[in-house]
Amino acid sequence: MTKETLMHGTDRAPTQGPVLSPLGSLSSLTLTRPDDWHLHVRDGDSLDAVVPHSAACFGRALIMPNLRPPITTTVQALTYRERILASVPQGMAFEPLMSLYLTDNTPPEEIDCAKASGFIIAAKLYPAGATTHSDAGISAIDLIHPVLERMEKLGLPLCVHGEATTPDVDIFDRERVFIEKTLSPLVRHFPGLKIVFEHITTSEAAQFVRAAGTNVAATVTAHHLLLNRNALFAGGLRPHHYCLPVLKREKHRRALIQAVCSGNPRFFLGTDSAPHAADTKEAACGCAGCYTAPLALGLYAEAFETEGALDRFEAFASLNGAAFYGLPPNEDKITLQRKSWKVPDYYAYLDDKLIPLRAGETVAWKLAPMSDGVPP
Ligand code: NCD
Ligand code: ZN
Repeated sequence: MTKETLMHGTDRAPTQGPVLSPLGSLSSLTLTRPDDWHLHVRDGDSLDAVVPHSAACFGRALIMPNLRPPITTTVQALTYRERILASVPQGMAFEPLMSLYLTDNTPPEEIDCAKASGFIIAAKLYPAGATTHSDAGISAIDLIHPVLERMEKLGLPLCVHGEATTPDVDIFDRERVFIEKTLSPLVRHFPGLKIVFEHITTSEAAQFVRAAGTNVAATVTAHHLLLNRNALFAGGLRPHHYCLPVLKREKHRRALIQAVCSGNPRFFLGTDSAPHAADTKEAACGCAGCYTAPLALGLYAEAFETEGALDRFEAFASLNGAAFYGLPPNEDKITLQRKSWKVPDYYAYLDDKLIPLRAGETVAWKLAPMSDGVPP
């Protein structure tokens, strides 16, 4: 195989970065090990089922705190972190970074503890009722102004589930209305607060982030880059494409693709991989969440490849998020090979099955096996 290497930027060693196959299409991609800045792993027996999938490809992940009961204190986050670490397979280095779940009653002093802990790097704003396990979330943003002031002062970023929750708002408009009614005023009120607008799904959200200051960033999921809302109804109702915020129109998907491929450092990878047992998704009232952890990197690579932007993939996946959170990038590398592979029909999960996105279908990019931690 001709290993002609494309050089993008100045600091890549000759054996890294995208590699061309003899026919000119990219055959492999070596990049700094990525991080996942938005991940759900649940608790208990779920951990052994899902943590290894993330640990196999990501160096770190920001763990979402929407358990039942939610992770609202530093002490709870500490013990939860220990339980996650116990599910990391031997020989894999995976660091769970923790977040606190804000409630109407979170005392500002809890932010001091969280910041001092060193392992809690964000607090999460769930508008009450917006998504899975958000009933203990915020009922009125004014109630947490003292907490947000403390976060602004201490430099603890706020992660935001950005959807309006009043029942009169159409589900496809919830993100846009949240920007107008809640996020814009919040950014004005707390100009020094670092904010991550999580799993953005609309052109309005992408534009909002582009126009905001360097204190505002966004995560983007692989599924929102690859699917539009038609995927919810393709040939019948597709529960495994149902997540929140819900998939949007094609024009919004295009806007997200443009945002992540633009090279703007304030867009970065957050899978929002969200495991739910199959019987809770394939139900009369199915849960929201797509399970993507084992295939997410391949999906993102597909999205960048369709735009001819694989040279921008590393920054999105491995550099931008760490920089925003003030952390160094991972030191080791991974290699993705352009090698189609079949996603399993399901994974074992509790007493049930966990059906990933693309179950039984193929993904174009595969993580190369590691030997002694050194990519081939
Ligand atoms: C997430 C979950 O299941 O915890 N679900 C989802 O549809 N994304 C919660 C969330 O991030 O909204
Ligand atoms: Zn989520």
